[in-house]
Amino acid sequence: MSRTRTALLAAMALVAGATGTAIAAVPGDTGAAAVPCTVDYKIQNDWGSGFTAAVTITNNSAAKSSWSLKWSYAGSQKVTSGWNAKVSQSGANVTAANESYNGTLATGGSASFGFQGTYSGSNAIPATFTLDGVTCNVDSGGPTDPTDPTDPPAGDRVNNPYSGAKVYVNPEWSEKAAAEPGGSRIANQPTGVWLDRTAAINGVNGGMSLRDHLDEALRQKGSGELVIQLVIYNLPGRDCAALASNGELGPTEIDRYKTEYIDPIKTILADSKYASLRIVTTVEIDSLPNLVTNVTPRATATPNCDVMKANGNYVKGVGYALNKLGDVGNVYNYVDAGHHGWLGWDDNFGASAQMFKQAATAEGATVADVHGFIANTANYSALKEDHFSVGQNVAGKSVRESSWVDWNRYVDELSYAQALRNQLVSIGFDSNIGMLIDTSRNGWGGANRPSGPGATTDVNTYVDGGRYDRRIHLGNWCNQSGAGLGERPKASPEAGIDAYVWMKPPGESDGSSEAIDNDEGKGFDRMCDPTYEGNPRNNDHMSGALPNAPVSGHWFSAQFQELMKNAYPPLS
Ligand code: GLC
Repeated sequence: MSRTRTALLAAMALVAGATGTAIAAVPGDTGAAAVPCTVDYKIQNDWGSGFTAAVTITNNSAAKSSWSLKWSYAGSQKVTSGWNAKVSQSGANVTAANESYNGTLATGGSASFGFQGTYSGSNAIPATFTLDGVTCNVDSGGPTDPTDPTDPPAGDRVNNPYSGAKVYVNPEWSEKAAAEPGGSRIANQPTGVWLDRTAAINGVNGGMSLRDHLDEALRQKGSGELVIQLVIYNLPGRDCAALASNGELGPTEIDRYKTEYIDPIKTILADSKYASLRIVTTVEIDSLPNLVTNVTPRATATPNCDVMKANGNYVKGVGYALNKLGDVGNVYNYVDAGHHGWLGWDDNFGASAQMFKQAATAEGATVADVHGFIANTANYSALKEDHFSVGQNVAGKSVRESSWVDWNRYVDELSYAQALRNQLVSIGFDSNIGMLIDTSRNGWGGANRPSGPGATTDVNTYVDGGRYDRRIHLGNWCNQSGAGLGERPKASPEAGIDAYVWMKPPGESDGSSEAIDNDEGKGFDRMCDPTYEGNPRNNDHMSGALPNAPVSGHWFSAQFQELMKNAYPPLS
């Protein structure tokens, strides 16, 4: 995003120079109230000879019953059609006047319209807009334009926010970890802060609010740089392929998601008090992949995922979140990208990338709102399998034919994340996007960790004897028996990878092993029951879950102890 922004500023400077017009410089972000109007002009699609744009006007002066916005192009742009405004052009001068149904503009109110146009050469954003003859300030949606009073005053986004930065230690998780025997060895590790319901914004049951976390983050930051990791996790109809993390919003409640959840979060994150933090948001774990793999006509389809695909509310919710949070100059959005044991098959890989693009261009979002992607969140897939690879043949068969790999194109998260990054860039995401990998629980150390390849008797003895991942099946996801803490969080560990992170806080359950009443909307998923014999999504294998687990998100001491015991690299 910093790249796009820099290019845009350069383009605007050229326009200003060429026309002799300069945008009035307003220092800091203190002047917003004094500006009569703000214009957010975003190019949504640009195919080299034509484009579509979305414009939002915000009126900060007296209420209006009609309006007319004017600008002129320095380039050859020609508007061909408009919607939600009457858009006309004479020479370089464009006028957009309200339609009969959107002429009313209260003080503080906004109106949006769009249009399509053609051009050749440059498609620079106009430097100056006037609303009813009064010059507005331009909010081009990006971060920290010093001439833009709607942006926070902090510096531009950096390419990798983790580089040279500390990462926030959540005091609430840290206290639980430290209270466990041996837990002080990891209690100072950074973990994700999950905003898993609307109440989490103000603090659940007297717990820390979002502002409390941000204030504490400023304290931990001191004079250096600090990343705080937030998990945006409250979509309507959440967790459509499973029951353990169903949430508070029903499948149709997209408006509540926007107004009660995303908007308040955005308002808090945009507070200039927090402008010096690097705020990483991981957006809606497991949602978009479910729309690819767990829908009709697949054998793995669930009725709820069919509903969420048909009503579009996952795509809209993710798009809305990316757009709104992406407007905050120091927010770094990372979209959830499943893991190799879910999306690594040819049928799922390219289709998932397309689904991510669809969501990243929905509801006013653009690919520039996406800083990167996160793989393996709350999952158990191994980071690197050293003892087998997809290119090998054993006893006349490809490793891909083994029961474990089952024709997957990838055998571990690092190779998956790097390949997915390339795929995403190839379909239009920024060439500098970075990947995160959640290594909180994919260590697979302890006594059962293989120290070399399996026997070459056949491809299954070879793969099964050598694999670190000791799960019964790659599709198992709940409180996995035998798992350990993985790589400790660290910045820039490999090419294309911004960081290894512990987004899932170790010790928090994935779901209850039997039905437990709760007021969080959480269901009982038998994938968390150790006696369950499976479903099509784990190819009818035993669940591999630990017994006696509490509701998802609740503290699970026995799992925390096992994760420490099986840590790889081991804990000292
Ligand atoms: C699960 C839970 C959620 C919790 C998160 C992190 O997804 O549903 O409530 O915050 O895990 O432990």
